[in-house]
Amino acid sequence: PATLRALADRAHVKIGTAVDGTALAEDATYRRITAREFNSVTAENAMKWESVEPERGEYDWTQADELVRFAHRNGQVVRGHTLVWHSQLPAWLTAGVADGSIGKAELRSILRNHITTEVKRYKGRIQQWDVVNEVFEEDGSYRNSIWLQQLGPSYIADAFRWAHAADPKAKLFMNDYNVEGVNAKSTAYYDLAKQLLAEGVPVQGFGIQGHLATQYGFPGQVAENLARFGALGMQTAFTEVDVRVLMPADEAKLATQATYFRGLLDACLNARSCKSFTVWGFTDKYSWVPDVFPEEGAATLMDEEFGRKPAYAAVRDGLAAG
Ligand code: G3I
Repeated sequence: PATLRALADRAHVKIGTAVDGTALAEDATYRRITAREFNSVTAENAMKWESVEPERGEYDWTQADELVRFAHRNGQVVRGHTLVWHSQLPAWLTAGVADGSIGKAELRSILRNHITTEVKRYKGRIQQWDVVNEVFEEDGSYRNSIWLQQLGPSYIADAFRWAHAADPKAKLFMNDYNVEGVNAKSTAYYDLAKQLLAEGVPVQGFGIQGHLATQYGFPGQVAENLARFGALGMQTAFTEVDVRVLMPADEAKLATQATYFRGLLDACLNARSCKSFTVWGFTDKYSWVPDVFPEEGAATLMDEEFGRKPAYAAVRDGLAAG
């Protein structure tokens, strides 16, 4: 039977997964399935700032390098995640801003140095970078992060310019959750994209994370949303898809879950702007969901023993039809 990646290759799309750096190092079954089923990978945590620069000026690229090597060996592209985020910042940075020892001008040059260092390190080996992640609130106002507070909204355009200078061929994305359909938050991204493009800022893509939950329903107007970004000449991608259910999972919930995966995949395959669909982990064995939502889980394509769930078949059938 065909693998997901063989079907995706035939449909000229990328089927990706987030990769847990520790599982990649320690779990041979996990490695084998990652290589067999996917033609794109994203570091789940290994490229985040707190991972790569835990102490100021002291870098640790171990897991990030390992993933990039793994991808190269297995003929996979890499999505870089993520350069500017309010979360998973190193303690030295947040503490320095909080106690005033890192002022605004210095913070700006620290950010520029972080982006330049990381993007240059993987120049030519990252197909798409999530340059800014989760910069808007649900109501479409800018997220009140240290970046906004210290640097003002121009940090976003700066980040894209610095990333582009470091690797002119990488496609540069903005990325967020709860932006599958047309709503206040996705409209804020649409307006920002229009503004950045008008100013000549190098932004090429809109990443839709796609963290869904069956109890909240399937989002409306997904096709319309993808189409309006495509009309701006932007690429779109689903970057972190998973569909959690209220535990315990049962047959009916897993059947609904499968239709949600298929719904997002079909929206991508039907949109000219969308050529990349990434799941946020493929096995419940390593999913982030139960740590953050203790009542929820079973959010991925395979159970904890790597058994294929209905969602796996739904994605396979969708790729086969696409
Ligand atoms: O590595 C340490 C380990 O040394 C320590 O013993 C352990 C104890 O808590 O923590 C480990 O770090 C954890 C890390 O995952 C690696 O497992 C962090 O505590 C934990 O917070 C971190 O969670 C990650 C989360 O982002 C952080 O916000 C999840 O794995 C990751 O899936 C999740 O991914 C995000 C995307 O980047 C952005 N979109 C939403 C998505 C889901 O929250």
